Amino acid sequence: MKQIPMLDLRAEYEYMRDDIDAAITKCLEHQKWILGPEVKELEEKIAGYLGVKHCICISSGTDALVLSLRALAIKTKGQEYFDKTDEIITTPFTFTATGDAILRSGATPVFVDIDPATYNIDPIKIKKYLTQNSKLETPDSKVVGIIPVHLYGQSCQMDELKAIAKEYNLFVVEDVAQAFGGIWKGKKLGSIGNTGAFSFFPSKNLGGFGDGGMVSTDDDELAPLVRMLLKHGGKDKYNVDHIGYNARLDTLQAAVLLAKFKYLDEFNEKRRRIAELYNQGLHGISDLILPSEAESLKLKAQSYHVYHQYTVRTERRDELQNYLKEQGISTMIYYPFPLHKMKVFEGRSRISDNLSNAESACQGVLSLPIEPLMNEKDIVHICEIVNKFKI
Ligand SMILES: Cc1ncc(COP(=O)(O)O)c(C=O)c1O
Repeated sequence: MKQIPMLDLRAEYEYMRDDIDAAITKCLEHQKWILGPEVKELEEKIAGYLGVKHCICISSGTDALVLSLRALAIKTKGQEYFDKTDEIITTPFTFTATGDAILRSGATPVFVDIDPATYNIDPIKIKKYLTQNSKLETPDSKVVGIIPVHLYGQSCQMDELKAIAKEYNLFVVEDVAQAFGGIWKGKKLGSIGNTGAFSFFPSKNLGGFGDGGMVSTDDDELAPLVRMLLKHGGKDKYNVDHIGYNARLDTLQAAVLLAKFKYLDEFNEKRRRIAELYNQGLHGISDLILPSEAESLKLKAQSYHVYHQYTVRTERRDELQNYLKEQGISTMIYYPFPLHKMKVFEGRSRISDNLSNAESACQGVLSLPIEPLMNEKDIVHICEIVNKFKI
């Protein structure tokens, strides 16, 4: 039986082999393994692509979030870390790292429910939390920022989020880990908030041969702070100012990423084509909910979805997943548990209202294979198999 994986990184390597091999060979020749020329070149290329003043390569997407928040604490509070009474709003329907980064910056995560159509944080619910909080006579805590996560490659409602941030004087750190190349009303994701945090984890839309990440920003104060933090906390690593990290991106990773970056837009277009084929082949199956873009022309016009995942939803998710496995089709559940149900956040986070949309999404979502180089026949085959399941 034919096996269809979620992703085929070997096929991608074969497609770009000459570029990648040449990039690695260049590193072998110059031997500048730490902060070599490829790191700077990647930063400049991506800054130009996003339309931002600064891009800073980091060791992972998680560190991109942590360093963004640490730099914001230093800039806005003159402190190394936020206080526990500083709250940062985010979604409970994301990868653990988003919430974990908030804890590691010293602040308290506040989980706000998602819009069930897009799976992204709901600005109306953020506003509700902020309004309730401001009515307290002596609020013991204060919201300082928001981390919207552009989940599965689709932009959050950035107009609403920016308006809320302006009204309440909050920073916005975009979690762009899943949405490199995505756009909101003409602006590249990662160029809208105070910073953008990108991940180059191998399975991401731009993935390296190991861990990697990046911070993007237009802020001339935050950029040098992030640069200091990733190199032990100082401009001079033998005489440092801040509590820093060793969070550099390897030259070798930067070289691989530079070679692959050439293909990012082409691959995002391929992902969108696959999504379109899924939309056509899976349309009209009762109880199978397709990604919101398939249903909403308004969303389609506002955002350029880069389909890091193509995620469907059904009440019979586990049955569907087992059935597809028997047919040789891999699937994944992103995510089986909302963050507020995880032990690490117990007693260390707050919940706004109820989080029932996030909880029920965890029960119903299923991501289908979306390898950019996938054969169109394979997508038709997957759609036929799903149709036979008769949801
Ligand atoms: C939404 C989200 N945020 C943050 C991260 C963390 O990125 P990394 O794995 O590169 O540390 C990931 C990915 O793994 C992610 O999907």
